[in-house]
Amino acid sequence: MGQEEGFIGCWDVSREKVLEIQDLSKHFGGVKAVDNFSMEVFNGEIVGLIGPNGAGKTTLINVVTGFLTPDKGRVVFLGEDVTGLPPHKINSRGMARTFQLIKPFANLRVLDAIAVGALSKSRGKKEAYEKATEIVRLLGLKDPYRVCSTLTIVEEKLVELGRALATRPKLLLIDELAAGLRPHEIVDMRKIITAIRKEYDMSMVVVEHVMPLVMGISDRVVVMSSGAKIAEGTPEEIAKDPKVIAAYLGERRRV
Ligand SMILES: Nc1ncnc2c1ncn2[C@@H]1O[C@H](COP(=O)(O)OP(=O)(O)O)[C@@H](O)[C@H]1O
Ligand SMILES: [Mg+2]
Repeated sequence: MGQEEGFIGCWDVSREKVLEIQDLSKHFGGVKAVDNFSMEVFNGEIVGLIGPNGAGKTTLINVVTGFLTPDKGRVVFLGEDVTGLPPHKINSRGMARTFQLIKPFANLRVLDAIAVGALSKSRGKKEAYEKATEIVRLLGLKDPYRVCSTLTIVEEKLVELGRALATRPKLLLIDELAAGLRPHEIVDMRKIITAIRKEYDMSMVVVEHVMPLVMGISDRVVVMSSGAKIAEGTPEEIAKDPKVIAAYLGERRRV
């Protein structure tokens, strides 16, 4: 209770609960990828979800966004049970995600790729392109007319982020944006995520294996290991939590 109580003490509990993950489990044969996992996200909050490789972070996102069905548990989004709904239905209710392995629309231009995301929430093509142009500016993408197959890794990740943003989500789940980026690119990404939060009224779950990005942007951090939640708290509390340090040290020994 202690940690939970401490967190609620410094947070406005009257705020709307956007996401509630209740006792969620997803097993692959004998692998308990997600194991009785629960967490909440409040309106406007950025929650960092960290954990060693194989902790179950991507599986959790896949279940929450409808790409996988859970063996057990519930996903409640904006007060409604969305457990087991297909991805497009969950997306149309206002939940968007990015993919860890990016499959850019290779032959499309940056602006077109983002406009595709905007179409479902626009009255027509013109409005979709207006929204896409605004997102291109927000993300600092230099040339909106470049073809996606010519982009650098960081630009690909920005386009992926832009496509998710274009659906105007109330909750955005970002999977491993920092993986493969250089330190200065991680700094830029941090600025961009902060700008997005300022510009749009949305909550985010930022899944990261790399600590510095997530520690810098999160209001609260949840730590996952072997499918379960092992810690939750402010970035400062998490950084010095012996259970968290042990989980990451264990990983380093395996490598
Ligand atoms: N489709 C799948 N089939 C079988 N095992 C899987 C599948 N997806 C993930 N796993 C296993 O589930 C565990 C969690 O993986 P994952 O969710 O990708 O972790 P993370 O994103 O934290 O690195 C790992 O042991 C992984 O090998
Ligand atoms: Mg992953």
